[in-house]
Amino acid sequence: QLYSAELSITDTHNITEILENEFKGAYPEKILPTGELREFELVAKQGTWSIVPPYTTSVWTYNGTIPGPVIRIKLGDTLKLTLKNELSQPTTIHWHGVRVPNAMDGVPGVTQPPIQPGDSFTYQFTPKDAGTFWFHPHINAAEQIERGLHGVLIVEDPSEPVYSQDLVWVLDDWLFTNGGEIYSKFVTRHDLAHDGRWGNLLTVNGKYQPTVKVKAGERIRIRMINVANGRVFKPVFEQLSPAVIAVDGMLAKAPFALQQFFVAPGNRVDLDIIIPQTAAGKTFVLQDAFTRNNIDLAFIQVASAEPIATPSFKSPQAQHFPLWSDALKIPVEHEFTLDARRGGVYGISWMIDDKVWLEGKAYELQSGKFTRLRINNKSSRLHPMHLHGQFFKVIAKNRQKVEENFWRDTVLVGPKESVDIGIVPMDKGLWANHCHILEHAESGMMSTIMVK
Ligand code: C2O
Ligand code: CU
Repeated sequence: QLYSAELSITDTHNITEILENEFKGAYPEKILPTGELREFELVAKQGTWSIVPPYTTSVWTYNGTIPGPVIRIKLGDTLKLTLKNELSQPTTIHWHGVRVPNAMDGVPGVTQPPIQPGDSFTYQFTPKDAGTFWFHPHINAAEQIERGLHGVLIVEDPSEPVYSQDLVWVLDDWLFTNGGEIYSKFVTRHDLAHDGRWGNLLTVNGKYQPTVKVKAGERIRIRMINVANGRVFKPVFEQLSPAVIAVDGMLAKAPFALQQFFVAPGNRVDLDIIIPQTAAGKTFVLQDAFTRNNIDLAFIQVASAEPIATPSFKSPQAQHFPLWSDALKIPVEHEFTLDARRGGVYGISWMIDDKVWLEGKAYELQSGKFTRLRINNKSSRLHPMHLHGQFFKVIAKNRQKVEENFWRDTVLVGPKESVDIGIVPMDKGLWANHCHILEHAESGMMSTIMVK
């Protein structure tokens, strides 16, 4: 508002053009497949998993493990994955953060019919971006993801530097009963009146407080993914100084220090960590500092052996990244309001623009056009808002300009907060737009965007 009143229509037009030009080359519109076909089979089924040995818990898994497989492919490879549904309820797979052809996006009622028990479905696509992604069901997700259905997709860029270790850390929390089983009431009124389902046991890669072994001098990459239904993590490493190199899969404009970084449900963050030469024999701890008391999540144990020479290379960073410093001069095109009302199947319904799941009309965006959108949280709860098929950049919070020099596919919107994003959509189709607190989404906080 501050600016737009002073601008004539032609001015706004020129600025839009500048913003769109700055965007060019930030990430590709198309990808040329190399012809390499990578085939995988996934079976979604019931099983058991030992989270806190020697106890076992009944879970639902992809191929028997939690998390499911970590699928690593190279940029340009074509992924062909067949999912067999051996659950007793329908499922689908959504490729979180991956720019897939719309029909491969895994959203029932929007891009595909649900995969019925006993049936299979084949997903095939060539990811357009390198980075850290994950996949999960998009139907009854509050139960299916909580019970253990999630996996990781890593798309490697051939030009990336070689770290001493490339680790994947899937962060999750579980709500257990005293008997060590998953509490089996889902989408409760309590969850809906709060920030979704928060558990009583936190895990990394499906294990309670695991230890990773490293050598002094090593340079490691940790790809952190929050797959929890509702819990937000604020990772802190005692005595290590990680640099964030990527957020939500995409390389940041430049690496930056990990401080006060909220990893909300759906978010990923890639860290570049040097284990000090002097650290032989030490143990470092990763803690979550989002809640009042810090919680230990995992340990990094440094061997007592001689340190190795630290690999030296420039941390990876985005080749082109728009600063969009004039983005706030463009008026807000649409304000998405977030709020709840009483009623609905679960007693409380969360809404976007006063509508529940698919009751509203898709909001239309023009591909290739810069658009400023506002997400306005009228409630007092958290909402990590996730847009399928597109990346966006946060340009303001509570109408104050912010500098986030990275793309996101999920942004945490705090109580009564408004977040402005800038976007140049490229991938056409009907895409889901929803809160990644799975209980909120399940009760209605899900709408669609049509990119034309
Ligand atoms: Cu990871 Cu529609 O979500
Ligand atoms: Cu929400």
